[in-house]
Amino acid sequence: MAPPSVTNFPAEVVPQAPEDPLFGLMRAYRADPSPDKVDLGIGAYRDDNAKPWVLPVVKKADEILRNDPEANHEYLPITGLAALTGKAAELLLGKSAPAIAEKRVSSVQTISGTGAVHLGALFLAKFYKIQGTNRTVYLSNPTWANHHQIFTNVGLPIATYPYFSKETKGLDFEGMKAALREAADGSIILLHACAHNPTGVDPTPEQWRDIALLMKEKKHFPFFDTAYQGFASGDLDRDAGAIRLFVEEGFELVIAQSFAKNFGLYGERAGCFHYVASPSSDAAEITTRVASQLAILQRSEISNPPIYGARIASIVLNDSTLFAEWQDNLRTMSGRIISMRTALRDKLEKLGTPGKWNHITDQIGMFSFTGLTEAQVLKLRQNYHIYMTKNGRISMAGLNSKNVDYVANAIDKVVREVQ
Ligand code: LMR
Repeated sequence: MAPPSVTNFPAEVVPQAPEDPLFGLMRAYRADPSPDKVDLGIGAYRDDNAKPWVLPVVKKADEILRNDPEANHEYLPITGLAALTGKAAELLLGKSAPAIAEKRVSSVQTISGTGAVHLGALFLAKFYKIQGTNRTVYLSNPTWANHHQIFTNVGLPIATYPYFSKETKGLDFEGMKAALREAADGSIILLHACAHNPTGVDPTPEQWRDIALLMKEKKHFPFFDTAYQGFASGDLDRDAGAIRLFVEEGFELVIAQSFAKNFGLYGERAGCFHYVASPSSDAAEITTRVASQLAILQRSEISNPPIYGARIASIVLNDSTLFAEWQDNLRTMSGRIISMRTALRDKLEKLGTPGKWNHITDQIGMFSFTGLTEAQVLKLRQNYHIYMTKNGRISMAGLNSKNVDYVANAIDKVVREVQ
């Protein structure tokens, strides 16, 4: 018999939660002894040998950091490394952005993109209400699974807007616009700045313009999540196009920015949260007040952010030679992913695999939303040791010149066998 409990803690009301699907998948992949196994699960870049790639520019920055006699392990300020957050804002908004010159941007270093989304969610839950009630956050359907629980955990109601068309495997633009029109004025709209996760489908520049106009009419509040700047087109400026458009249109908005993927600093948890005020005579003063509140939230949650990854990213962002080298490293990553898209599509088309496969090259960024069913995904895992999320998303970086034929052949067999 279990001993009586010492306190009145109601342990029976704590149910067993399910394992996180993505990290569960990663664990299952690592435990699989098969020499044929292929990891198309978590969104982390791999080289042509299926190995994690430490960016050469990150190696250089690391070397500089380790040889810096002034480097120590002191606390950062609550809002993080200013040499990072300032450059991070420039990366998103452009070097000569009026919003920066007019001091309308408040930036806080966070625990990568997840921490930035969380800080933004917490801030909006506390301050963005109508008659005491929180605004609803609209997420794309589908979206990065973690979005749902991050917003729910801080008590913000969530809803979804249509995004992906199963028929075209592209954007359901009409569905998206209709939902944004129907949403209560002033809703929070979560937008993926580029390389949408999980679908790899982004609006065109013209569609972004329409979305901005519609959101302006409805006074919706944009919440950008950007984890793949540089991965969509290989061009940092182009990948920030949607954010820059909204800022130029005069929106006040927030941005969650991750450096996990584009610097390959996954486990170092480097990222930033930015608040941008609309242009107005009191914008700088509003921004200062917002910054003061963000600092309180940050202090109570993590006190101050981790220093190592922030220093690496900051060394690169503050040195023009290293910055150019980083752009080159980004092109290496995005270029290899694009070549894998072509290779997979070509192979499936040569095999005559039932269905259309053009979406594999039409979609962009780290992921492809293949259209494979859950049953097909499970079969691929069981019979071929190929790991992907149940919604049929594949991380393109898991493919390489050695395994792409194996994966295409397996998909071909499974598509023919399982509906
Ligand atoms: C992914 O979607 O695979 C990545 O963003 C990893 C994560 O933290 O979920």
